Amino acid sequence: MNAKTVTLTDNETGKQIELEVLEPTIGPPTINISSLYKDMGFFTFDPGFMSTASCESAITYMCGETGVLAYRGYPIEQLAKNSNYLETCYLLFYGELPYNKAFNEFTDMICQHTMIHEALKKFYDGFRRDAHPMAIMVGVTGALSAFYNDHCDIRNSYDREVVAHRLIAKMPTIAAWSYRYANGLPFVYPDASLNYTENFLHMMFSVPSKPYKVKPIHAKALDLIMLLHADHEQNASTSTVRLSGSSEANPYAAVAAGIATLWGPAHGGANEAVIQMLQDIVNSDNSISDYVKRAKDKNDTFRLMGFGHRVYKTYDPRAKLIREVCHEILEHHSGDTQLEKILDVAMTLEKIALEDEYFISRNLYPNVDFYSGIIFLAIGIPMNMFTVIFSMSRTIGWISHWNEMMQADQLRIGRPRQLYTGKPIRSYPEAKE
Ligand code: ACO
Repeated sequence: MNAKTVTLTDNETGKQIELEVLEPTIGPPTINISSLYKDMGFFTFDPGFMSTASCESAITYMCGETGVLAYRGYPIEQLAKNSNYLETCYLLFYGELPYNKAFNEFTDMICQHTMIHEALKKFYDGFRRDAHPMAIMVGVTGALSAFYNDHCDIRNSYDREVVAHRLIAKMPTIAAWSYRYANGLPFVYPDASLNYTENFLHMMFSVPSKPYKVKPIHAKALDLIMLLHADHEQNASTSTVRLSGSSEANPYAAVAAGIATLWGPAHGGANEAVIQMLQDIVNSDNSISDYVKRAKDKNDTFRLMGFGHRVYKTYDPRAKLIREVCHEILEHHSGDTQLEKILDVAMTLEKIALEDEYFISRNLYPNVDFYSGIIFLAIGIPMNMFTVIFSMSRTIGWISHWNEMMQADQLRIGRPRQLYTGKPIRSYPEAKE
């Protein structure tokens, strides 16, 4: 067998090493450098993991150049058309689409786990009312480890399945209650007669004093947004869950670490920034072109929020799908002048940016966050809940990656190396001045 290799030469000593090239199903070949330190005494340096595959995975494939995103081999365009969020959860976790019976059993199982421990409910009272709902999400999800400490043998596949079912089922309850608590509203229990997304909207918005009916168009749009955010391979929060899980940490605590990472504005907070920017433009005396001019000015730190992506150098495939729903939902809400003004600004910005040489030459296309915030606004979801919904959607991705890592023959604690640039070893001074 002639496996492909690359040769690395130390030009100083002339020492050479052949490094094996691993072939993925699709995507760039990957050089295996795991024995580089042992064989050559070198570390590699790659801050931000620009060229480093941190693990082997069979869950999600994405290609930034061609704009492809596929879960377990199925392009998201096909899943968006034919599937739904809960079925996609099954696909991501188990690796295959469920047959009817398996899906019904899965749905029943998720329904059974939607309640949260009554004592956990009291936990909310410990937070200040003005706490950010993401802070509550981190705290309450981490606290699941104190309330659900049965079925926590991470080496046991059944226990891992129970953990996954609990997390998928309880996240909407925890998320909706973080909103209810901040707004002084009574907690609404899950309703098993509703589907997954409808149930979340019901727990967010229904009040005891008047009947509440979930609008099908809202549930459909939210379900699509959740499906499109369910996984995105080794992003910062998923890598965090993998790294903390690699120490055999409690899985609920590992997912809480993922939520904390997602909270950062460079990761999950961008759609909030988009709405903030669109509202600023609507309320400002400056024209849209003035904002575009600022975005292009090297001496101005202002950027057009919702444009550009670290990996996608073409149209974000999720943005294409969500754009259509964004228009559909806004037609439904015609007459809402504030929303219409925001959409007008968004569409003008989109048009200018897609035709402007600055954006074209830098491959800056609207990303998924550009549209999702507008949809959330139309549904009535406040801005500080945007990232909460993202974390609820991404939980399945985190737990699928954690499960995949735990299934591997050899689980190794993640332990990156460093390029040390501090002081060399020195002696403690006899007298300190
Ligand atoms: N507006 C104006 N100029 C931009 C923008 C933008 N939104 N994004 C990138 N550029 C410019 C940069 O100034 C740079 O120009 P230069 O080559 O003349 O110096 C060039 O495009 C490349 O920019 P980088 O920062 O190197 O691109 P990178 O791929 O590292 O950044 C990022 C990607 C962080 C998403 C960036 O495009 C950005 O800040 N966008 C706005 C924030 C946003 O929408 N984030 C959400 C990302 S999607 C998600 O997380 C789900």
